[in-house]
Amino acid sequence: MKATDLPAHDLLKDFLTGEGVEVTNPSDLSHLAYVKDCKADDVRDAIGRAEAALPDWRDRNVKERADILRAWFEAIMARKEDLARLMTLEQGKVITESRGEVEYGASFVEWFGEEAKRVYGDHIPSHDTDKRMVVIKQAVGVVAAITPWNFPIAMITRKISPALAAGCTVVVKPAALTPLCALAIMKLAHEAGVPEDAFITLTSSDAATVGEELCKSSTVRKLSFTGSTKVGKILAEQSASTLKKLSMELGGNAPFIVFDDADIDAAVEGAIACKFRNAGQTCVCANRVMVQDGIYDEFMAKFRDAVAALKVGDGLDDDMEIGPLVEEAAVDKVEELVEDATSRGGELIGGGRMEGRDGWFYRPGIIDGATTDMRLAEEEIFGPIAPVFRFSSDEEAMEIANDTAVGLAAYFYSRDIGRIWRVAEALEYGMVGINAPSVSTELAPFGGVKESGFGREGSKYGVEEYVEIKALHFGGIGEALPRR
Ligand code: SIN
Repeated sequence: MKATDLPAHDLLKDFLTGEGVEVTNPSDLSHLAYVKDCKADDVRDAIGRAEAALPDWRDRNVKERADILRAWFEAIMARKEDLARLMTLEQGKVITESRGEVEYGASFVEWFGEEAKRVYGDHIPSHDTDKRMVVIKQAVGVVAAITPWNFPIAMITRKISPALAAGCTVVVKPAALTPLCALAIMKLAHEAGVPEDAFITLTSSDAATVGEELCKSSTVRKLSFTGSTKVGKILAEQSASTLKKLSMELGGNAPFIVFDDADIDAAVEGAIACKFRNAGQTCVCANRVMVQDGIYDEFMAKFRDAVAALKVGDGLDDDMEIGPLVEEAAVDKVEELVEDATSRGGELIGGGRMEGRDGWFYRPGIIDGATTDMRLAEEEIFGPIAPVFRFSSDEEAMEIANDTAVGLAAYFYSRDIGRIWRVAEALEYGMVGINAPSVSTELAPFGGVKESGFGREGSKYGVEEYVEIKALHFGGIGEALPRR
């Protein structure tokens, strides 16, 4: 594809280079573009510029920041189709999902633009008649955001919008596989009125160097990261010397539990939506489907048919439901996990690398008879394979579901209100979908427990990650004035 044929080329043209980070289409491995390959010096320069831009942005009237975020939201929505096509080209997800992600990404901009006006403090009743106390919330300062390739727009807006709303300036490092969407939405933000140095994007193939520079900088007062638990731990260690504020949205291993009183059709539909979104490449995807004995066969018969009916192909084709995986390593990893599972007695139904195509396609499949000694019981599959585990009691279900180091999202299907409460309370996860296959919305807090990290994104809690609390103690107030 010629650079000028790229969707949203008008937004990208200033950032396209003749060398640097190469962006390719995972569907056919064709070249899409080159963007700048930033090095350590670029990171230091960006941090300096974001620091210089801070006083102006932070001290603006809150309504002005809110209006600018509103304009950015509207600009993203106005370019929805271009951005969606660009996303499908560089990331691979099917176009219907890309359209959904543009809306999802924009929803954070809209929400936090509105929340900018509600960063309230507190008045504290005093212990001394001569004193008064209030709490104010202030922008944390320069923020760094390191974002993944699986949601090339939404994971940026979910971090940047609350930061900008609170008055912070930001330096973003998007994934090297998906820099084009990142640059396009940044350009729209600048056109909407966000000062250029208040929102800087650093594209780079050297995530380790960029990450280390951001973490070790004492100017950067907050780091928000979405990615693997392994990398999250490295970044947290590197941030220790400056004790910056951290948000870590890390790996998941979601159980999707179907109890014997569930609406089976709804559970099958939910399992398809939850497992196969973005070809299984989300950290909240069902990683372990768990089905109770009494309904196992009925569920499996319906689930097999539904998986077999999924249409796999180029994401730009409106009919497709599963696009390619993002890169070859992703296909290799799924193959390895499937090999391990079948060597331990699991039966592979469907599934497998699609031969005879240039892109990184893997057919959706099921591992019937999955067991807890398989690698996929603990590792994130990040691909279109659904292992199905059998269980008999609620206690056993909780034992399996919670037997993991991470705790991001969990899902279960049941119609018994008592069981629903007991299970919801017992699951060691940050988000629980109950007869619901999705927990992703700007309205509710997104984040995990245990080694899935800490901090919450979206919702009224999301902005708290980007402010510091300051207590003001006023003395010498004097005697109360006479009142009627
Ligand atoms: C993720 O996979 O990291 C995020 C998924 C979502 O926001 O739904």
